[in-house]
Amino acid sequence: MTTIAGKRKLQNALLGWFDRDQRDMPWRQTGDPYPIWVSEIMLQQTQVQTVIPYFQRWMKTFPTLQKLARSREETVLKHWEGLGYYSRARNLHRAAQQVVKKHQGRLPDTYEELIQLPGIGRYTAGALLSIAFDQPAPVLDGNVKRVLSRLFAISANGEASAHEKWLWDTSAELVPAKRPGDFNQAMMELGATVCLPKKPLCRVCPLQTQCEAQKRGEVEKFPEPRARPGLKKIEVSAAVITRNGKVFIQQRPHSGLMGGLWEFPGGKRQSKETEEECLKREIQEELSIPIAISKKMMTIKHSYTQFRVTLNVFWCPWQSGRIRATHCEQWKWVRYQDLNRYTFPAANAKIVKTLLNGKGTFK
Ligand code: ADE
Repeated sequence: MTTIAGKRKLQNALLGWFDRDQRDMPWRQTGDPYPIWVSEIMLQQTQVQTVIPYFQRWMKTFPTLQKLARSREETVLKHWEGLGYYSRARNLHRAAQQVVKKHQGRLPDTYEELIQLPGIGRYTAGALLSIAFDQPAPVLDGNVKRVLSRLFAISANGEASAHEKWLWDTSAELVPAKRPGDFNQAMMELGATVCLPKKPLCRVCPLQTQCEAQKRGEVEKFPEPRARPGLKKIEVSAAVITRNGKVFIQQRPHSGLMGGLWEFPGGKRQSKETEEECLKREIQEELSIPIAISKKMMTIKHSYTQFRVTLNVFWCPWQSGRIRATHCEQWKWVRYQDLNRYTFPAANAKIVKTLLNGKGTFK
């Protein structure tokens, strides 16, 4: 891969750059494994600037692992609202409870124990071992993958799993015994701020002279783009049912996609239905009541990881009947001003925002 001298040079150049240019992040001012853990989970799939306010709010409400373990899942999810991928929050909560039970409240410092905890995979274990426990364990995220592919001008050539192994092995080989946590963070940060996917800033890169792709003038050829299948599209009708100044919401089943989050009732449109017919059928099926549609409130488009949803939202003043809800964990009539207490998936959260902004006052 590289000579020992080459490796030293690379480590020193990267650490020197990190000492000069690293961004200020609140979790970098601590040696406590708990905030480091929280930050690493939040940073998965989410950028640093987005994470910072969430992290600060989280640490105020759940300042210790013990406090997190004792908190209700509803509260935990509310603090995650907007970050997406809610299983990350649920796993963090469960893992904290296991650490209290099995490890006397102290996050363990071995790979074997860490990997047993919910939500801790190879990446998070490596990040915790190196950043919180000063052990030379490797990390690999999208940023590190790009840096390594360019540094060594190596692409997958269709061999995805062999390439993944090469990337992990290379990351492990490069991480130094001294300052492993800083080195790993520097690799990730280089990928996030300098070794950008498009138009990388090679002129200010501390590894410029060592980069094989740069030598060949082929930086943007690495890593080779992944073939992404087009996102599946779905269309959903949803009802804002109002009654005496309150609105109906229901909680999704705990198991399954976005489990435990709250939403407005409705469902997927079938091919021959109009949006309104779909809503009437869905509400009859889900709540056993007929529905009267007053008017369309809004159309929301939102992309999740797996699919793209178009959400057609209708005002529905309460008619009559007895609600028998069969598809949800529980349901409630809530005052508009209390909607903020519940956690909604992103597309539904946009409905809440409209309702709270007053734009959606029912006429
Ligand atoms: N991305 C994920 N974790 C990070 C960290 N600790 N520093 C920089 N970038 C990151």
